[in-house]
Amino acid sequence: MALRNCRNVKVLDITPVGQSPRPDEFFELRLERPDWDDWKPGQFVMIRPVDWPMDLLWGRPFSICSGDAESVTLFVQKIGRGTARLSELKKGDTVAMWGPLGNSFAVDATRPTLMLAGGIGIAPFRGYVEQHPLPENLKLFFAHRMAIGCYPYQRLSGAVDAECMMEARREDLAAIIERMGELVDQYRDGLILCCGPTPFMKTAQKFALEAGAELYVSLENRMACGVGACLGCVCKDGKGHHTQVCTKGPIFRADNVEL
Ligand code: FES
Repeated sequence: MALRNCRNVKVLDITPVGQSPRPDEFFELRLERPDWDDWKPGQFVMIRPVDWPMDLLWGRPFSICSGDAESVTLFVQKIGRGTARLSELKKGDTVAMWGPLGNSFAVDATRPTLMLAGGIGIAPFRGYVEQHPLPENLKLFFAHRMAIGCYPYQRLSGAVDAECMMEARREDLAAIIERMGELVDQYRDGLILCCGPTPFMKTAQKFALEAGAELYVSLENRMACGVGACLGCVCKDGKGHHTQVCTKGPIFRADNVEL
């Protein structure tokens, strides 16, 4: 399969950002920026180190977390064999990267916008905040399980109104859900964006549908090709039709997707 916009790029930096008791679980991977057009927040890339063995055949998808004229930064949690191997990359290694892929988050500078982020789902909101024309109209709610220093939360909390809640114990979940409900209600006339684990997005979807709020969810389905060829990423739309997350998403209106 020939991939358009596939380039071999160098690793510029790889920086662990985890905290005790899991200091190596999270890391930022900064890659050379290829000769792309601009990317938009919510879009993703596929990457595959060129020396991966054939038992790691497919690339891995990552939201673009941040970027500038020279680089693209991805935020990675080590959760499987592929991401464990990515954590072993060194500065100067070569990675095949294709993208930017998929659609992007809605932006309406004039409307108050609520960002609901769960865990590693905070990654695309860093780029969203950096590119937003009026960050004072943005509010971030972040729910997390690991220590806050594992995530790029501090960068965002310095730029927008932000609050976070940690799910350290089972009882914390009820408080998080209650707060999400309050916020969705408060932003029912604004724009609401959500990225995180599926149960987190389902909760946001339920509240938004009840409130009649405009919510967009960013799906993080497994992907192999990223370009609509393998059908490995399908979800169901609001009419129950199968649709590819990589080419029709990853962002869907919450009233038009089954989670
Ligand atoms: Fe291959 Fe979506 S990842 S079709």
